[in-house]
Amino acid sequence: MRIEPSSEAVGAEVHDVDLRNMDDAQFALLRNAFFDHGALFFRDQHLSPEDHIAFAELWGGININRFFTPVDGYPQIAQVLKEPDQTVNIGGGWHTDHSYDHVPAMGSILYALETPSEGGDTLFAGMQAAYEALDDNMKQRLDGLQALHGNAHIFGKQSDYRDEVGDRFGNQDKAGQEAVHPIVLAHPETGKKGLYVNPAFTLKVIDMDAQQSADLLMQLYAHIMQPQFHFRWQWSPGSLAMWDNRSTWHYAMNDYHGHRRLLHRITVEGVALH
Ligand code: SIN
Repeated sequence: MRIEPSSEAVGAEVHDVDLRNMDDAQFALLRNAFFDHGALFFRDQHLSPEDHIAFAELWGGININRFFTPVDGYPQIAQVLKEPDQTVNIGGGWHTDHSYDHVPAMGSILYALETPSEGGDTLFAGMQAAYEALDDNMKQRLDGLQALHGNAHIFGKQSDYRDEVGDRFGNQDKAGQEAVHPIVLAHPETGKKGLYVNPAFTLKVIDMDAQQSADLLMQLYAHIMQPQFHFRWQWSPGSLAMWDNRSTWHYAMNDYHGHRRLLHRITVEGVALH
């Protein structure tokens, strides 16, 4: 097995491994690399849904996403689909999964079944590299601040986006969760500090007026959106990406209209964030 960093800020590609047959030593290497790089990428895997579930269970319990339509017969697996006649994709904006939960999912494991011959890449951003690059004044300003996250505007009844995604999302009546998390998160496994706010689910900074909160969040988002913190993953059938929701953002590009893209996603349980 060979682990090759994908960029300075986020991700590593893992070569020469079959995710169906790993020994304990290989898994220990993967685990360390995952927390070091925030995301891991693999090609040419041959995973049945059962294999995908078994791989996910190595990392922890499965967190069933209540909004994504599941794969038939596999409630643990969320379907990430865009058909040729659909215009809106799932995850087509910078976000991290589940930050609206009190105990957000640790990570997501996305496996590609059908991919367009061009386009449909996923961008990743490294939140620890982005935090490191802030100046000391901003680091001091963020120290101890918390933000409120929520999901009603994405998955709830009033959401235009949910309407556009259609039956690829369900359970709109279950939307509305909100949770407060630190803006600077000491990673639960490594203690390394990273930014933990995202444009999709973060609603506001706690104890700040609306304008100040919006200004601060926009400043952080503009900082994180600089390309030096990013890596772009190109999919092909059989490739797999897994990311740590506590130290990365991701963005599914929507540049392949008229083509089908189908992936299976499993989210793995996390821990409370302090
Ligand atoms: C997601 O946001 O979980 C989907 C990412 C993708 O389809 O590339």
